[in-house]
Amino acid sequence: MKIRTDLPLLSAVIAIALTSSPLVSAAKRPPNILVILADDLGIGDVGCYGNDTIKTPNINRLAAGGVKLTHHLAAAPMCTPSRAAMMTARYPARYGLVPNERLETVVIPHISSKVALPLDEVTLATALKAANYTTALVGKWHLGMYCNLFGLSCPGPLKHGFDTFYGIPVTLFMEFRGPHPFWECNIQDPAFQKLAFTWLLTVVTLVISKSKLKLRLFTLILLLLLTHTFLFAWWFVATHVGLGKGSLWGVSNWLHRAANSKIFRQDKVVESPIELDGLSQRLAAESRQFLADHAKNDRPFFLFHSMAHVHTPMFTAPYRAGLSKHGRYGDNIEEMDESIGVLLDSLKEFGLEDDTLVYFTSDQGGHLEAIDDDGQRIGGHNGRFKGGKAQGGPEGGIRVAGIYRWPGHLPKGAVVDTPTSLMDLMPTFLDLAGLPPLKELVPSAANKDLDGRSIADLLTQGDVSPPKERIMIHHCRQAIRAVRLVRGDHIYKMYVGKVKWHEGSTQCGWGHTTGCACYGEEFHRDISHEPELYDLSFDPYEDEPIDPSSTEYKEIVAFLQDYLKEWKSSVYYPDPPMSNIPDVMWRPHYQPMCWSC
Ligand SMILES: *[C@@H]1O[C@H](CO)[C@@H](O)[C@H](O)[C@H]1NC(C)=O
Ligand SMILES: *[C@@H]1O[C@H](CO)[C@@H](O)[C@H](O)[C@H]1NC(C)=O
Repeated sequence: MKIRTDLPLLSAVIAIALTSSPLVSAAKRPPNILVILADDLGIGDVGCYGNDTIKTPNINRLAAGGVKLTHHLAAAPMCTPSRAAMMTARYPARYGLVPNERLETVVIPHISSKVALPLDEVTLATALKAANYTTALVGKWHLGMYCNLFGLSCPGPLKHGFDTFYGIPVTLFMEFRGPHPFWECNIQDPAFQKLAFTWLLTVVTLVISKSKLKLRLFTLILLLLLTHTFLFAWWFVATHVGLGKGSLWGVSNWLHRAANSKIFRQDKVVESPIELDGLSQRLAAESRQFLADHAKNDRPFFLFHSMAHVHTPMFTAPYRAGLSKHGRYGDNIEEMDESIGVLLDSLKEFGLEDDTLVYFTSDQGGHLEAIDDDGQRIGGHNGRFKGGKAQGGPEGGIRVAGIYRWPGHLPKGAVVDTPTSLMDLMPTFLDLAGLPPLKELVPSAANKDLDGRSIADLLTQGDVSPPKERIMIHHCRQAIRAVRLVRGDHIYKMYVGKVKWHEGSTQCGWGHTTGCACYGEEFHRDISHEPELYDLSFDPYEDEPIDPSSTEYKEIVAFLQDYLKEWKSSVYYPDPPMSNIPDVMWRPHYQPMCWSC
């Protein structure tokens, strides 16, 4: 048994001896769970992962009190699929919550979009609700809102096991900064020329008809109203709806903000547009209140605190702005860390620290290309790992911070280097908490193959040598781009497709909507006929592929190619709704409104 710890070896051994299984005696109430998820946080942005200029004292404190995972992997390099995978322990390609090459929409774009996590998928919240937990989501959801007609109810997370929801239904978008102009008319544009001509024609026709047909004034006003309602609708669509209207998401910037910058409580809008400054503090206060309210309950709780930071746009409460050494992005990290501090302090204050398992991670790596309007970088830093957000395969997009803490049950200040996944959360937690496996807890999960597995033994006992054999597939959208094999003391990674980086960098240009795509000549190289193989156990930064003429290469590549062939023939990937335009586009008749804002 190998375990690295900042404490003397003896105390680690004692800690483990004290915590040997059974982890929870049957009679005891299972532990609470607090999951803290960062958005787009680069692994190189965190103090305890080696950043010495950004201040993350609270994440560092969490790591010092628990187990830090150094090889922790997201199942996807984008929000929607990565979050779906974390919540279900399954690759999102299995249920179509990823786009394919047909469409550029890589996440759910609108509250009123039809696409959502299928209702027969079982999330961690559903599982814990079945185990009699009180479940709450505070913060970002982004797995679909299931709005009904006129958006009168958009239950979103309430359909997936959460008792309560307060937060952001989709995600933050740059357009949320606003305000954006509503009245716009570009007379150079042929669509507007047609509109202007039709308007002129209508007015002239009405004026002539009035005198020729001797219309009554009342009729004239009625006709004017009718024709102008029609012309307004025409103008509105020409200005605000459709691709190429300014925003990436099939609507104008104005409409995007008006339709999607909203905070929900349960299934209703309570704030619109979102007041960004202070949002981080408001979310933290909401979670703190939840902890206060449930500290004395008989039932254990699952609180999912899903932060808005450090996704673009950058925003910081005025009292924190300009404090970091790394501009607006650094300020966002430090503000995020502050809210983690609020949660950790609340656990302590309400006497919940020892009964609560805390898990912290990020949905994907930092967005290398993101820059603000003034050219300032607003994306994360993935340390020495190559690539970033949106790139399926390269380490920088998927290798993220990961910390588990449960005082008295998991060793303090331990480090686990064995590869683990965000998808391991559900099986691991059920295992650690002494709860039945998912299929027993939720009978409808019987036919669901899980891609995550329990890492309870790694967390309690540390790295073992050699680790259990494990294979992980890395998708970019729906396509398989790389596969990782943990075998003996090796961690092989085979690429069958690679993004084309810009010369001298590991990114694809600049811009907050820029990312390397997984398809198309410009961004992507198909190398499935001659895969690249790395051994991350001694080449963690993927500097030098293994020589294709070596026996090691031939043996491992043949094994993994067979594995992928078998996988593709036995695992069904449905045609993804996320690539179906009617499923992702803005649907006005399902648009929720705020009636009390
Ligand atoms: C710390 O993070 C900042 C912001 O992302 C980055 O610019 C800097 O290079 C990082 N420092 C180290 C030592 O990784
Ligand atoms: C949840 O509560 C019900 C009713 O009190 C009980 O029958 C059931 O066994 C509990 N489930 C678990 C997993 O504890």
